Formats: sequence, structure tokens, C-alpha cells
Amino acid sequence: MSKPVILTGLRANNDLHIGNYLGALLPMVDMAREKGGEYQVNLFIPDLHSFTTPIDHDKLQAGIMQNLRVFAAAGLPLDNPDVHIYRQSYVPAHSELTWILDCFTGLGEMSRMTQFKDKSGSLGDDRISLGLFNYPVLMAADILLYCAEYVPVGDDQSQHLEFTRDIAERLNSRFGDLFVLPKSVKEQHEFFNKDQGLRIKDLADPSKKMSKSDDTGKGVIFMTDSPDEVRKKIMSATTDSIGKVAHDYDKQAGVANLLDILQLFGGNPDDFIGQDQYGPLKTAVAEAVADFLAKFQADLAKVDDQAILTKLAASEEQMNLQANVTLLKVQKAVGLRA
Ligand code: TYM
Repeated sequence: MSKPVILTGLRANNDLHIGNYLGALLPMVDMAREKGGEYQVNLFIPDLHSFTTPIDHDKLQAGIMQNLRVFAAAGLPLDNPDVHIYRQSYVPAHSELTWILDCFTGLGEMSRMTQFKDKSGSLGDDRISLGLFNYPVLMAADILLYCAEYVPVGDDQSQHLEFTRDIAERLNSRFGDLFVLPKSVKEQHEFFNKDQGLRIKDLADPSKKMSKSDDTGKGVIFMTDSPDEVRKKIMSATTDSIGKVAHDYDKQAGVANLLDILQLFGGNPDDFIGQDQYGPLKTAVAEAVADFLAKFQADLAKVDDQAILTKLAASEEQMNLQANVTLLKVQKAVGLRA
């Protein structure tokens, strides 16, 4: 890795939604466009992460291809040699490093991960997989193999980023300088020019984040939703009975979420603050999102699958070379290789 690395992954077990787009994909695409040349940009599909909770395995291949198309439609410059797209399972070093890191990870520290607590909460003991339990370790391997310093993620993944720093430091202090630490969450936000990790809320239940795993999909705006679906979901978004538009995450989570979405899609929340009705705000959000998605979907329909497949093959070859350099260093340090 001759250039500093910016890296992120988006799982392919359901369609991507606007939370994924705003929280992770857009910062990556912006960086690739503005800083490709100065940085190496890795945008990958963590396919091994896809079934930490149960999925329909027959749909995984189609989901992976669809996500790759979404990356291209979002403007990822595939012709830039510093930009790489790849599938995690095509670079076996991810799994190998995970096992090694597992052996230096405590049961206690994995049990404390909020994502694990949230996701396992709805499953019975026998349905909570070990994969769900230790997926932050695989995520750490994803980052450390490429010495990635900048990792744009939504707020829900910040704890895993901190874990990545912890495990890297732990091995570095025991075995010497093996890993480059990703920047702290605070430094990430400075780099990506944000005050905080993004957490777009579910429209129907703004006490929880918008999530791919939501079964009803009622409060989730998928990147493939039609303008009519978008309008319907936004116009029926849950608000409150206060009856005055204000940006208050505690008392008016639904309204604050709508104001955030409006701003992120180019509207001006100040036009609505103080109004006595929520209808005009909802209409403005619905129009801003529907317009954006109409254009995005037109680009999606034009994506060239062959260009994606060619890029994928080239990136996967290169990523295996890069990842194996780090893996060998670690294997030597822990005594697996002479
Ligand atoms: P995943 O696939 O669940 O989500 C992909 C990205 O979208 C962000 N995100 C959100 N951001 C804002 N508001 C929301 N409502 C919202 N929902 C999701 C997530 O924070 C994430 O950045 N473990 C990761 C994937 C992964 C990864 C990695 C990421 C695997 N290895 C290495 C970075 C580096 C995940 O499950 O994301």
C-alpha cells in the first residue's frame, strides 16, 4: 500500500437504503472522486458478513451484483486505478487473519458490543450464531489487512472501529509493529467533515435506526423504491403531538430525522423550523428524496455490468497480493511461519 487507504464495506443481504448511502457510500464516492490519486480507495462487499443473521442464501449472488451496480451508479469511478471493488470471500486472508485475531479477543469484549446485543435480542439462544458474536473480529481483519486509516461508517459501527484499534494495539504491543491503526472515530469525523457518525432513523419508529434487517420495510427507504413508495413512506412518517417543528433528537426524534434527511438531500431545514404543521416539511422531504432517487435509478439502469466484472477481477487479484503481505507478517509474528 503505497498510498494511505480509505476503506469501507456494505453488506449485500438486502437492498441498500438511504442510511447506507448517506452513512458510508456517499463519503466513499466523494473521497474517490476528490482524492483518488492521493489515496487508495477500497469499497468492498463483506459477503462473509451477510449471514451472521439468517438470510435467503439463494438471493445472495444477485444481492452482491446489485450492490456493485449501486456503487457504480452512485458515481464510484471504476476507471481510477486507485479505486478497488472486491468481495471479501475472494480474498481468503480475511478469514485466516480473523482466526488469529479471535485467539487474542476476549469473550467479554465481544459480549459488550451493542450491535450484538441489539441483533441477538430478537433471536433465541440457538439462533444466535457465533458468526454474529465475533463479526467485529472479521471486520477488524477487513480493515487491518490493508492498513486502512480512514473508514467511513455509520454511527452503529463506531464501536467496532474502536475495537479494531484495540486489537491492533494489543498485537502491536505484544509482537512489534504489525498493524497500522485506523484513525479514532473523532479523527474519522474530522476527515470526512462530519460532526458525528450518521444515524438515519426508521421513519415508522424513529427510536431505532433505519435498518436493512427490518422485516416490514415500512420505515426504510430503499435505493430502489419508486417515487410513489418514497412519498407514501415519508408522508406517513411517525412524528409527535407537540405540533412545532424543532430539531430535538430527544423530544422530537421523528421530526429531527426528517430535518436531517432534508438537509442531506440538499434542502434547507431552516425554512421549516418553528412551523406549526408537519405536512409541509414532510412534502419537502418526500420531493427531495424522490427527485434524488429518480435520477439515481436512471443512472442505475445504465450501469455496465461487464465493466464491473472486469474491475472486480482485477481488484481481487491485487487485493490478494496486498492482504497476503500483512497476513504473512502476522503469521511470522505468531510463529506459524519461519
Ligand atoms: P452494514 O452493511 O450493516 O451497513 C453498511 C454501512 O451503512 C451504515 N448504516 C447507516 N448509516 C447511517 N444511518 C443508518 N440508519 C445506517 N444503517 C447502516 C453502517 O454503519 C455501515 O457503515 N459490519 C459492517 C460492514 C463491514 C465493514 C467492514 C465496514 C464489514 N467489514 C470493514 C467498514 C469496514 C456492516 O454490517 O454494515
